[in-house]
Amino acid sequence: MTDLAQGLRLRDDFPGVGDWHYLDSAATAQKPQAVIDAIARAYGADYATVHRGVYERSANMTLAYEAARRKVAQFIGAASDAEIIYVRGATEGINLAAHSWASTQLKAGDRILLSTLEHHSNIVPWQIVAEQVGAQIDVVPLTQDGCIDLDAMAAMITSAHKMVALAHVSNVLGSVLDCRRAADIAHGVGAKILIDGCQAVPRIAVDMAALDCDFYVFSAHKLYGPTGIGVLWARQELLEMMPPYQGGGSMIDKVTFEKTSYAPAPTRFEAGTPHITGVVGLSAAIDYVQAIGLDAIHAHECALVAKARSALEDLNSVRLFGPDTSAGILSFELQGVHPHDVGTILDEGGVAIRAGHHCAQPLMNHLGVDATARASFGLYSDDSDVDALVQGLARVRKIFG
Ligand SMILES: Cc1ncc(COP(=O)(O)O)c(C=O)c1O
Repeated sequence: MTDLAQGLRLRDDFPGVGDWHYLDSAATAQKPQAVIDAIARAYGADYATVHRGVYERSANMTLAYEAARRKVAQFIGAASDAEIIYVRGATEGINLAAHSWASTQLKAGDRILLSTLEHHSNIVPWQIVAEQVGAQIDVVPLTQDGCIDLDAMAAMITSAHKMVALAHVSNVLGSVLDCRRAADIAHGVGAKILIDGCQAVPRIAVDMAALDCDFYVFSAHKLYGPTGIGVLWARQELLEMMPPYQGGGSMIDKVTFEKTSYAPAPTRFEAGTPHITGVVGLSAAIDYVQAIGLDAIHAHECALVAKARSALEDLNSVRLFGPDTSAGILSFELQGVHPHDVGTILDEGGVAIRAGHHCAQPLMNHLGVDATARASFGLYSDDSDVDALVQGLARVRKIFG
């Protein structure tokens, strides 16, 4: 039995949670003490630079830094740790793929396929590339319950589409993409597919070989790790054809004023002194999550969403967005009350939700709202959080009549 199945209070591992009803884990997850301690050690007794030092502590830090890369590779089922590029987060990972792969491989007349529910970080970098090269963007619609409509995708994709970029789990609706089917459809016309795994990696087990995508990105801070560090995974053969994203120290083979040659991937894409302590924190976060098990985390969060959905349905005039099966994320609207007012009143009762457009304005347009209220769960969430949310919403209703 896992800790979650035994009902252990994992929230006690998180000094930032306590008795607070933190329902904003999709924005950023709280950190377990084990991660905080690992970062403190990395900044304290273990601190040194990586890759350059000739002294023992630097050699040890380099070992830890590269061991973390192997851990990430194993965690997401990558074929090799050379396919793991450390980036600042999902946003930088998508920008890197857009800049180094798409802007060099796409030409005028090519097309890029996105979906209605994408986060702005999986829209804007593609718009920048499209403008640079003269490509066009098409948008896959959603099914009635807020999933990316793969039948529609199969019907609209053509051989002009060279890149498809889709979210694995929607940050607003919690809907889960059938990545394998999306990859098969993309590959059927020769397109590459990037999956934005920002909301998936903390919630469901992922395996690059099984998903069969070409690029995958995520951020450590949503996976109970630190901010400022994330991962771009890409197939080795794609990385080999990609020019550097940024120039500087570390990423070179040889520099002269006449010509510079570059290191192979992943080093070619990691210019400058890296986020050493961030990588150590990411490694500790993966250890923490793996000890619990992603299947247990997923089941736990789905149960909380199901409980919250059914309780909210019993309240008057609540509109729920997204499918019944959403992964740990529930957006809703209390009719007649702006989500910001909902969030402010809930906060008075110690319940923290997110209210706004969630960096998904095209999705808000599609839903016909300016904003939604969003409750998102983490592995530390429990029934008391759902109860506090429901009580808080009853209070909002009372105040607004
Ligand atoms: C689905 C999705 N994609 C991308 C991002 C961007 O992540 P970051 O800000 O960590 O780069 C987020 C963050 O909210 C997200 O939810």
